[in-house]
Amino acid sequence: MFATTIRDTRPFAMPPRSSATITTMRTEISFDTLSGFETELLAVFAADTQTAKGADAKPAPALLINDDAVKTAASQVLSSGEFKAGANETLLLHAPAGLKAKRLLIVGLGKQAKATVNSVRNAAGTAVRYVKPRGIRELVVALPVADGLNPMSAARAAIEGATVGDFDPDTYRSDRKDQRIQRFTLVAPGGGDRSALEAAFAEGVIVGESQNFARTLVNEPGNVLTPTVLGQRAAEMAKEVGLDCEVHSTEKLHELKMGAFWSVSQGSAEPPALIVMRYEPEGVKGGPVLGLVGKGITFDTGGISIKPADNMEKMKYDMAGGAAMIGAMRAIALLKPKVRVIGIVCAAENMPDGKAQKPGDVQTAMSGKTIEIINTDAEGRLVLADGLAYAKQLGATHLIDAATLTGACVVALGMVNAGAFSNDDETFAKFQAALETSGEKFWRLPLADEYMDMIKSDIGDIKNTGGRWGGACTAAEFLHVFAEDTPWIHLDIAGIAWIEDSRPYIAKGPSGVAVRSILEWTRRF
Ligand code: BES
Ligand code: MN
Ligand code: ZN
Repeated sequence: MFATTIRDTRPFAMPPRSSATITTMRTEISFDTLSGFETELLAVFAADTQTAKGADAKPAPALLINDDAVKTAASQVLSSGEFKAGANETLLLHAPAGLKAKRLLIVGLGKQAKATVNSVRNAAGTAVRYVKPRGIRELVVALPVADGLNPMSAARAAIEGATVGDFDPDTYRSDRKDQRIQRFTLVAPGGGDRSALEAAFAEGVIVGESQNFARTLVNEPGNVLTPTVLGQRAAEMAKEVGLDCEVHSTEKLHELKMGAFWSVSQGSAEPPALIVMRYEPEGVKGGPVLGLVGKGITFDTGGISIKPADNMEKMKYDMAGGAAMIGAMRAIALLKPKVRVIGIVCAAENMPDGKAQKPGDVQTAMSGKTIEIINTDAEGRLVLADGLAYAKQLGATHLIDAATLTGACVVALGMVNAGAFSNDDETFAKFQAALETSGEKFWRLPLADEYMDMIKSDIGDIKNTGGRWGGACTAAEFLHVFAEDTPWIHLDIAGIAWIEDSRPYIAKGPSGVAVRSILEWTRRF
């Protein structure tokens, strides 16, 4: 008999300590008058009402509030021409006359005719990110009033944007200044339908916090957030919000014959995690079951087809699709749509090692299909292949997956739109409609038999890359082989999951993209 020892390749590994805490800002909605608020800062939104075009058409900024005292306080600076109410443009006044607030911040929404709830979402984030580095820890924001702006949608978007704006990624800095906002108040003077506004506001808090939860996961370095730890974080969250959650590892992958998923994990000392979250609303029997499947590569070195060193550190965010599903499941558990949802995250580390898979290897996926490995760096589709098959086995009638899948998608759409693919127009129409609420940008790209032909293998059923051209589409066709005819949407978020440069309304770093859109999609069933 041989004695077996458990190999620990990092006996002295000690993960760094993070100062990230779960506490978020205190939020409330109020219906009092703006001028009476004793606050460090009152923020109001303005839009450019100029409709004429041409050289003489000067910007005509106007505040989107019905409060004479605030309008008077701002009238001089608005007529000065210094402030054009461009999107996320800011202007600060100290000691505004006639107001109890110490400061008045005006944030632009851009052209009035083009201002949407998404402009409100961003402008609220801008207000928050304006005050944070200035040592101001509390602010009051006025809900904008304008034609074509639904007050409930605007209230929800404003608190979402504010919550998202409060997030900063510098959690491991030893001299980290705590710049988090302690209290955020949204004011809808007079009110309107108060209970509807309160409900919309409460919803926005949940959505914003769920997006930030996903961002926190994506931000973690690979030495902290291993597949096992991702599983633990998902399980903790699930317990908090009352979701059913199981986290499996190696044995279960073998039991389910997940040869594609395992082939990625086999080269890592870190065991894989198959995270399964279930949302079963009371009284909902029958009807659709939505399967949310996320790519959870906690670090992607490329494996034996190793990536170049430049920017490789970014590949800690290769679990952003999985994090989006975990964030979406959190929001679903709290907002309780009337549809059953299963969330699956296939988490693994893609490493080169003596046990790693090699180009030319042939793997048998859970579905029985054989896959010729051409490039071990095309690993996301491998873990998703088995994730999609498992979601179907668990009863999913509709599938959606999210993954930082291909550089080709970034080449096609830049860092502006994420890619979306679907085999079913009706299911995709629900997603398209969801985007109006979420404000996220996805652009539909094509599936086609010709792309499928590009991934046919000589030795087995399919190969895991289809060459350089149309890389996002051949990757999607690869997943299509496993989704089969089940209505399915594939989201390629490679270009959008990480923000390279900060914007006025959001920090650089993990974006939390897809949480909001996936949530809204589930609410349309
Ligand atoms: N995780 C990468 C894709 C990626 C690229 C995400 C850039 C974020 C930014 C994925 O696993 C990958 O390596 N894809 C390869 C596929 C190729 C080998 C067919 C790619 O896109 O180069
Ligand atoms: Mn890869
Ligand atoms: Zn990857």
